[in-house]
Amino acid sequence: MPKLTGIKKINIAVFISGNGSNLKSLILDSFKKKSKYEIKLVISNKETAKGLKYAKKFKIKKKIIKYLNKKNAEKTILVELKKNKIDLVCLAGFMKILSNNLIKKFRGKIINIHPSLLPKYKGLNTHQKAINNKEKCSGCTVHYVNAKLDSGKIILQKKVKIFKNDTCDKLTKRVLKQEHLLYPRALKKILSNL
Ligand code: GRF
Repeated sequence: MPKLTGIKKINIAVFISGNGSNLKSLILDSFKKKSKYEIKLVISNKETAKGLKYAKKFKIKKKIIKYLNKKNAEKTILVELKKNKIDLVCLAGFMKILSNNLIKKFRGKIINIHPSLLPKYKGLNTHQKAINNKEKCSGCTVHYVNAKLDSGKIILQKKVKIFKNDTCDKLTKRVLKQEHLLYPRALKKILSNL
């Protein structure tokens, strides 16, 4: 990420729609002494997203942006990113697809965590698809966001074994545990040159 070189700590916005367990792991990581980032803003498209409780608990500014109209919602997002001097966006279970226009405006500065070993199993229900296809492994990937869904450059991946009688539920939980380690590691990797 060449444009961020020279900045001491970067300002991050985390986008969520649900439980926010990845948000929590990023917040806790950001509190570590050597952390190179600060989470300045949490954006949710849903008022009821459980993960918003972490914004409250850790006193991080939150903004709920309802997607009644995608264009307007993204306009508001851009205003908020600018207002809060956000350098990098981390998508963490954000269930809306960003437009090419927004991605272009924040080119190279949006990353996502996805619950599969990309390029396999883009989209939803990744673990069930992996089980159905009798894969030996599932896993998770942190990648840059580009115009194509779940297709940007991979930053880091972690494999998770699929057992014989695995259920989607059990596998989801085991992968999620790994996601909580992988996302901070991926940030460390891309921010290592700061
Ligand atoms: C995670 O599995 C993430 O990979 C996917 O959505 C889920 C979000 O979980 N994109 P949480 O809201 O962080 O608990």
